Amino acid sequence: MRGHCAYRRAGDLSQSLGALVPLCGQLFEAAPELREPASHPAVRFGIAMKKHAPITRKKMIQLLNEDLAREFQAIIAYTVYSQTMKGAKYKGIADELKLHAGEELDHALQIAKQIDYFNGTPVTTPKSVKLSAKPEDMLRFDLENEETTIRHYRDRIRQAEAMGEFALSEVLRKIIAQEQEHLTDLADALGIDNPAIKA
Ligand SMILES: [Fe+2]
Ligand SMILES: [Fe+2]
Repeated sequence: MRGHCAYRRAGDLSQSLGALVPLCGQLFEAAPELREPASHPAVRFGIAMKKHAPITRKKMIQLLNEDLAREFQAIIAYTVYSQTMKGAKYKGIADELKLHAGEELDHALQIAKQIDYFNGTPVTTPKSVKLSAKPEDMLRFDLENEETTIRHYRDRIRQAEAMGEFALSEVLRKIIAQEQEHLTDLADALGIDNPAIKA
């Protein structure tokens, strides 16, 4: 009997929720301000509204070009740092940075291809590259750049998904996984924990 009662209660709840969902939809239509904040009970219970309106293709081209300029920056930084880093104890990480340079070039090619897919024109200018003769500075500059890059790719993935551009999102997900590996390599070389990146 307990099982039967539990079933009936579950059925009642399901019916109530069934009636509640369209009601919430009407409510949000009538009062858009109720979509925020996320602490609203309807949102807490999973009846979440769309977080962001999709951006335009033109805006996506502009943002991907920013990403491409960051990839060019990374290629230059890893190329220069890997070849100028002095000191026997940095030999291993210098070799690793050389590998990163090649992976950043691959990212740049993939991002340029996506810009072309959106009928945009890829930029040719990198973000600025900081220079220092100190290996620790080079590693820290790289770490900061990777953090910035990861933060931007997280946004870009959400934006791509909101647009329904799932192929772009897939490309970006593979790139961001590699950027996180770069971040870990740099944090290890600096002897620090991976920084927590606020999304
Ligand atoms: Fe990259
Ligand atoms: Fe990277």
